[in-house]
Amino acid sequence: MKYLIGIDIGTSATKTVMFDEKFNVVTSASQEYPMYQPRNGWAEQMPEDWRDAVINTLREVISKSNVSAEDIAGIGLSGQMHGLVMLDENGAVLRPSIIWCDQRTQKQCDEITEKIGKERLIEITANPALTGFTASKILWVRENEPEIYAKCRHILLPKDYIRYILTGEFATEVSDASGMQLMDIPNRCWSDEVLEKLDIDKSMLPKMYESPEVTGKITKEIAEKTGLSVNTVVVGGAGDNAAAAVGTGVVSDGKAFTTIGTSGVVFAHTSEVSIDPKGRVHTFCCAVPDCWHIMGVTQAAGLSLKWFRDNFCGDFMEMAEKEGVDPYYLMDKAADKIPVGSNRLIYLPYLMGERTPHLDSDCRGVFFGLSAIHTKADMIRSVMEGVAYSLKNCNDILNEMGAEINEMMACGGGGTSALWRQMLADLYECDVKTLSSKEGPALGVAILAAVGAGIYDNVKTACDEAVKIDKICSPNKENSESYKKFYGIYNSLYSHLKEDFKDLTK
Ligand code: XUL
Repeated sequence: MKYLIGIDIGTSATKTVMFDEKFNVVTSASQEYPMYQPRNGWAEQMPEDWRDAVINTLREVISKSNVSAEDIAGIGLSGQMHGLVMLDENGAVLRPSIIWCDQRTQKQCDEITEKIGKERLIEITANPALTGFTASKILWVRENEPEIYAKCRHILLPKDYIRYILTGEFATEVSDASGMQLMDIPNRCWSDEVLEKLDIDKSMLPKMYESPEVTGKITKEIAEKTGLSVNTVVVGGAGDNAAAAVGTGVVSDGKAFTTIGTSGVVFAHTSEVSIDPKGRVHTFCCAVPDCWHIMGVTQAAGLSLKWFRDNFCGDFMEMAEKEGVDPYYLMDKAADKIPVGSNRLIYLPYLMGERTPHLDSDCRGVFFGLSAIHTKADMIRSVMEGVAYSLKNCNDILNEMGAEINEMMACGGGGTSALWRQMLADLYECDVKTLSSKEGPALGVAILAAVGAGIYDNVKTACDEAVKIDKICSPNKENSESYKKFYGIYNSLYSHLKEDFKDLTK
């Protein structure tokens, strides 16, 4: 029996999971780390925190497993997308990583659009210039911290920094690199035109692979630190959303998933490049060679509920500790007692600006309709509903683009909540399915590793072995009708507040 390891470098934690070659979980471990917000709208993390979490969790899953290191055939890396990691000539980290939800780069986005041209930019990179993407973050450092930029020799994404630590190789793969805004998306390679116009030296960028390809092997130093073998291969892996797609079997047309992690994403597989001319959803290469995907992003999905928990739910946290349960479980139970519409309270989840559908770095969160009758439970439910309305915005655009979704999966931490899944089913008016495996991205990249290590011929065959549907949540007609009215108000609130958000930023 051979074994595989999937490592998911998320925003709240790194999760490392060992699977056998039939994709049963053998052992798993996770380690959390902080996100720093030095200013309103900024978000950074320390690459060294990711590195330590990966090494510690690898050591833990291997030592708990009784599996011989030589039987671990491959490792796959999944990670939060878009984060900028800059290294000097010795491979040392130059500054904290500016991560995906950071909103400081609107000025640089305007500059990118001006230099390349709005239409040409969408033609090449399949997306408009976005604050979340890596290119504008590179320009921000060049403009604001020229002494750091001058020392920069390598630009990497979060999981590709981990690849460098594990293998010594500077490499990336098409799905995550798509979110840098430096790629020719239809041709799956770096765009010389974009790099030239933005004056970014191509030699700073890593070598590009397809997601299941082998990119290197474990170094002697890491083998000694973790208990791995130097013969274990590390494959390209994928950005966390493309990884979750593989882990939920979303590898052919008509299949889609919604994930509620720190961010929320609605993702549909496409075998052809399909671009929203208004740029409201992203088009990226996916982890299946020669295929793409379209996805809408809610910036603060799980992040909204975590923010609410950390700031206002000390009582739930204390109770959860006493009862030995997760505080989210108790919050979920309280919200489940509140009717659809949260007693006429609507939450806009724009804590970190918003991508789909607004592409607005200035908007911020709102509770609308607060009354003296409202309790904490109403507010928890309205946070969950607000996130679900935002995901419905994403789903509406994918449908408008003709994605013809006939199977919707749910995953991510929020996807384990039956209440949140019911909201999605009621709003989308379709079944929402979950799998018996809850590992999402980690399973996805373990599948890619199994293909890279030669255990399976291709991603689809490996998915057939790994992915088994567990629960189906069907829409409730009465709820769907009630939600329609609240969803209408939710949508009009943004248009009423758009200019006020801009004034507030100023
Ligand atoms: C996708 C995105 C987030 C991050 C964090 O474009 O920014 O989903 O990958 O999970």
